[in-house]
Amino acid sequence: MIFAAILAGGIGSRMGGTDTPKQFLTLGNKPVIVHTIEKFVINENIDKIIVLTPKNFITHTNKLINDYIGDSENIIVIEGGETRNDTLMNSMKYIEENFGIDDDSIIITHDSVRPFVTHRIIKDNIDAARKYGACDTVVPATDTIVESINGETIQSIPVRDYYYQGQTPQSFNVRKLFNLINSLTEEEANILTDACKIFTLKDEDVHLVMGEVTNIKITYPYDLRLANTILEDSND
Ligand code: CTP
Repeated sequence: MIFAAILAGGIGSRMGGTDTPKQFLTLGNKPVIVHTIEKFVINENIDKIIVLTPKNFITHTNKLINDYIGDSENIIVIEGGETRNDTLMNSMKYIEENFGIDDDSIIITHDSVRPFVTHRIIKDNIDAARKYGACDTVVPATDTIVESINGETIQSIPVRDYYYQGQTPQSFNVRKLFNLINSLTEEEANILTDACKIFTLKDEDVHLVMGEVTNIKITYPYDLRLANTILEDSND
C-alpha cells in the first residue's frame, strides 16, 4: 500500500498573532491544509491519506475535508503528537494497528504547511522510496553556507555544491522506518527531529529527490504573503 501522512500537529508559534495554527489559515480561497491534502487526493496511487492534527482540531479538519473535498473515504484524521517526530510516530502506530507492517508498503510524509508540493515531486518520492527504501526532497543551497559553532565567528565555509536545503516529502519503506524507529535508544529518540536523520544515523542510504523552490514551508507571516503571490502566479 502507499500511505501519505500529512503532518499537521503543530501550533505554528512562529506565525504569531493568532490562535489558529497556520495550516488552518486561508490561502487564496481555502485553508492551507486543504490545498495540501488535495495534492495527495489527486494522486491515484495513494491508498490512504492520514492527516494528523492537534486533538482539538480533528472535528474542524473533518469538516473542512467534507466541505472542500467531499468524497473522503481514503482520508482519516487522527491526533498528532507533541513534537513533529511524535506526530510521525503516531502515523506509524496507526498503520501498524490498522493495516499491519509489510515489506512493500511505503509512506510519504509531508508538512501540512507546504501546499505547493507538485505531482512530479510526489511521483518521484513514490518511485525513490520503492526503489531505495528512503528519500528526501531537496533543492540545491543557493546562499553560501557559513558554519559557526559559537555564533560569533566563522569556523568554516563548506563547498556550496555539496549542500542542499531539505524540504518535504520524505518517504520511506514502512517496514524499514518502523524497524529503525524501534531500534532507537530513548536518548536518540529525544534528539532526532527528522526521519531522514534516523536513517543516516543508522548508516542507511537516503536518496535525493529534487524539489522546487516554490515548494515553500509557511513558517512566518511573510511566507503566507509569499504563498499568496505564488498561488496568484500559478493561476495566471
Ligand atoms: N508538526 C506536527 N506535529 C508537531 C509539530 C509540527 O505535525 N508536534 C508539523 C506542522 O504542523 C507543520 C510541519 O510539522 O506542518 C512543519 O513544522 P513547523 O513549520 O515547525 O510547524 P510548527 O511546529 O507548527 O511551527 P512553530 O515551530 O513555529 O511552532
